[in-house]
Amino acid sequence: MKADVLVLFGATGDLSKKKLFPALYDLQDLAQLDLPIIGVASSQWTQEEFKKHIEESVRSRKPDPNEAALTKLMNQTELIVGDYADPQTFVALADAIKDFKLPVIYLAIAPEHFAKITESLSMVGITRRARVVVEKPFGRDLASAKALDAELKEILPEEQIYRIDHYLGKEAVEDLLVFRFANTLFEPVWNRNYVSNVQITMAENFGIDGRGAFYDGVGATRDVLQNHILQVLTMLTMEPPIDMSSEAMQNEKIKVLSAIRDINKNDVVRGQFDGYLDETGVDENSDTETFVAMKIFIDNWRWAGVPIYLRTGKKLAETVLEVIVEFNQPPRALFGQAPANQVRFRLGAKDGVDISLQAKKPGTKLVTETVDLSVEFVAEFGDRQGPYERLLRAAMLGDHFRFTRIDAVLHSWQILEDLLRNPHPVESYEPGTWGPASAQHLVPGGWAPVGTEADNLKNLKS
Ligand code: BG6
Repeated sequence: MKADVLVLFGATGDLSKKKLFPALYDLQDLAQLDLPIIGVASSQWTQEEFKKHIEESVRSRKPDPNEAALTKLMNQTELIVGDYADPQTFVALADAIKDFKLPVIYLAIAPEHFAKITESLSMVGITRRARVVVEKPFGRDLASAKALDAELKEILPEEQIYRIDHYLGKEAVEDLLVFRFANTLFEPVWNRNYVSNVQITMAENFGIDGRGAFYDGVGATRDVLQNHILQVLTMLTMEPPIDMSSEAMQNEKIKVLSAIRDINKNDVVRGQFDGYLDETGVDENSDTETFVAMKIFIDNWRWAGVPIYLRTGKKLAETVLEVIVEFNQPPRALFGQAPANQVRFRLGAKDGVDISLQAKKPGTKLVTETVDLSVEFVAEFGDRQGPYERLLRAAMLGDHFRFTRIDAVLHSWQILEDLLRNPHPVESYEPGTWGPASAQHLVPGGWAPVGTEADNLKNLKS
């Protein structure tokens, strides 16, 4: 059933400004946002200030918006000002939405408030019929995720909870499934018999952007590896679901996550960029990692023995989100040594796929040269939908497919439990590099080029 009102806690906050209002605008532009939006925030803003804020948030992302859609969005939105600890805030909210049958309540706020707000919502009867959307991180380790789940479950059953990992809303991440299971060409070789290793890189060339107070208690492993990177890994390695239902998908995800072998601490590098300790909100002796890289194994029939390398970090050489699947060499090098075949999934900017193959180099000799078969999705399909636009729509329609189920969340924490409990010290790295030197040695022969380095190599050849 379709929701008939959207309530946004944290409506004056950062996430709403940067992601949610631009996404709501996109939905309105497609005429798919036919419901009132009620913001809730403790900032003492007037309705006019709030609408101005929405306008600015949209214009900063869309310099040339559809003015009619923007005006409609501003007109369908109103703000309730109130402290989240004050029961009156919830009384006012209950009154404002009393005529609606199915609210979506989006908690775009710090996770420590999730349980308390849900309880206050239940006191005024809202949770009986609402879908509640919670942002990541869901907990900060296995125990806290379980505790948060138990608190929420006292009030809400699993089917009323929508846990966001916005990577599940990215078209290119979903394409991993389509690439694998809609193309007969690749699935037969997607296993230990043909794949030599997998490398996943989520790098950002910017730092913590004033989020020091939040980030210092979190670090790269909790902030993005436990969720975004493990989701990408799951889509890349899971078995085909029996159908495209949410339950079938989640069941397969659980299987692959539970096959991840306990991580060997010697296969993990934690890094911290030089200058991190001077950031506002960061403890002067902080050991929080702004970079983490690791080698893991999936001990199942398909992937046994295939090393999988993961890395992520802030203030790295560039911003790039890529997966490289490298294949074995042919059994005999008839044409001399050549690079192994590779599939490179570009999941961030300029998303698409490159398949690198060997072709005969022109001339009299039978030697090879690397050629790439490349596709850039925007060039093929035009503009793609943003993750928050897709996730908001799904929550309003009651579709769990792109949200995380609690058992998967708990499994992801379980995988990292030992590392989080007993971290070894961080190694420092220069901003603008690929992290600490020891991370380079994790992959025998070094990490495959990604981002502009890989693009430059490709362009050199074409
Ligand atoms: C967020 C993290 O979940 O994802 C940020 O908290 C990170 O630290 C961001 O920068 C990355 O998202 P995207 O979509 O820009 O890759």
